[in-house]
Amino acid sequence: MKLCVVGTGYVGLVVGACFAETGNDVLCADVDSGKIASLKENRLPIYEPGLEPLVVRNQREGRLRFTTEVAAAIEASDVVFIAVGTPPDEDGSADLQHVVTVARTIGQHMNSPKVVATKSTVPVGTAELVRAEIAKYTKTTFHVCSNPEFLKEGAAVDDFMKPDRVIVGVDHPESRRVFEELYGPFVRTGNPLIFMDIPSAEMTKYAANAMLATRITFMNQVAQLCEAVGADVQLVRKGIGSDHRIGSAFLFPGPGYGGSCFPKDVKALVRTADGKDVSLDVLKAVEAGNERQKRVLYEKVRRHFDGKLSGRTIGVWGLAFKAETDDVRESPALVLIEALLADGAAVRAHDPAAIETARHVLGDRVTYVPKAYDAVAGADALVIVTEWREYRNPDFARIKQGLKRPLIVDGRNLYEPARLAELGFTYDCIGRPLACASS
Ligand SMILES: NC(=O)c1ccc[n+]([C@@H]2O[C@H](COP(=O)([O-])OP(=O)(O)OC[C@H]3O[C@@H](n4cnc5c(N)ncnc54)[C@H](O)[C@@H]3O)[C@@H](O)[C@H]2O)c1
Repeated sequence: MKLCVVGTGYVGLVVGACFAETGNDVLCADVDSGKIASLKENRLPIYEPGLEPLVVRNQREGRLRFTTEVAAAIEASDVVFIAVGTPPDEDGSADLQHVVTVARTIGQHMNSPKVVATKSTVPVGTAELVRAEIAKYTKTTFHVCSNPEFLKEGAAVDDFMKPDRVIVGVDHPESRRVFEELYGPFVRTGNPLIFMDIPSAEMTKYAANAMLATRITFMNQVAQLCEAVGADVQLVRKGIGSDHRIGSAFLFPGPGYGGSCFPKDVKALVRTADGKDVSLDVLKAVEAGNERQKRVLYEKVRRHFDGKLSGRTIGVWGLAFKAETDDVRESPALVLIEALLADGAAVRAHDPAAIETARHVLGDRVTYVPKAYDAVAGADALVIVTEWREYRNPDFARIKQGLKRPLIVDGRNLYEPARLAELGFTYDCIGRPLACASS
């Protein structure tokens, strides 16, 4: 099939590469000429495990092409995916300006019948908006559908290749036929390809993200209570996760959820509901709870220094909002670092993939170090924000040697408190009793 994916970001690039891998002719179009120039030379603008070989192979075979000529890419395709960003507007609702711009371009270049799918996360009613925009410019037949994307950054290729399910909102048999053919190779093992009406498909994406954000926030608040009453959230998590009605996924407490999806999608869903006079109280609490949670690591560090951080140096491990990505959008690390800097502390930060993306946001107010142990050299404490694999079994003797004071504040519960105490550390993590070196 001849496909065009408009918007070559975290989602568009993965979607384009994976569809090319199953034999389709894919044109990935983006207005960012720097990004497209890099991709043409097989230089990926994002860090995503397993993506580079797919891009290289499919570009070499001629099935995957990159272009800034959005209009020409649309004209050359039978199916067009809209995968541009939908950032939060001033009031928190999804800003659809990029989606509408692409719809307009599609309408103006509708040279043959096409199926147009929204891949971006968009509120209920957006497919109709897209349909109306296209129809302003053309009399050619086209079908609009909603195909929300559920991939996770850090495991995006795997998620797309082996999806738990694929959701497609359709209102015409032709769209259904096209999507059965497109996704056939990805659901061979029986995972469902679920067709539904378009508004339900649009809603499903938001409801899924809202549920996951709720689970995380629930556990973060249980963790706070565990700390207050002397319980261990790791044990509580295992205890409740083994109940099959609850399940074990997404119950890890941490420094608050971040990334480009949960924060903005929770906000957008709350705004949609408010607009319909439906009060999503649960999600309002989730949003507020997560904002507070993002300050938890800073508050902990502050307590250890009696509120006096001026002149201190804090080592930070992890800038990305989660492991296996270079994405720092809404990362809890940014909240921590901004607060430390505002208090007059210096920050030495390490991340295996996200230093450059973080530098775009934080500039040179932070010392970025290429090796993890360089972050602790001469620092007063180490704070762990992201659960990268390389932080899981570190050389504790080396950390202790580098630190002026043996203090680790761990936002991801990577270590055993008793062991850290034995090794002479003060170890402050999430939802577990504070571990201190026995003197
Ligand atoms: N990142 C994720 O994990 C994820 C997962 C599922 C769904 N989504 C959703 O997918 C959508 C895209 O997210 P992303 O993270 O890939 O965003 P992104 O910011 O990484 O990429 C968006 C791309 O669209 C391009 N673009 C903007 N306007 C354009 C236009 N008029 N024509 C062509 N290109 C244009 C930008 O240059 C950019 O490269 C969002 O709605 C997001 O909520 C994201």
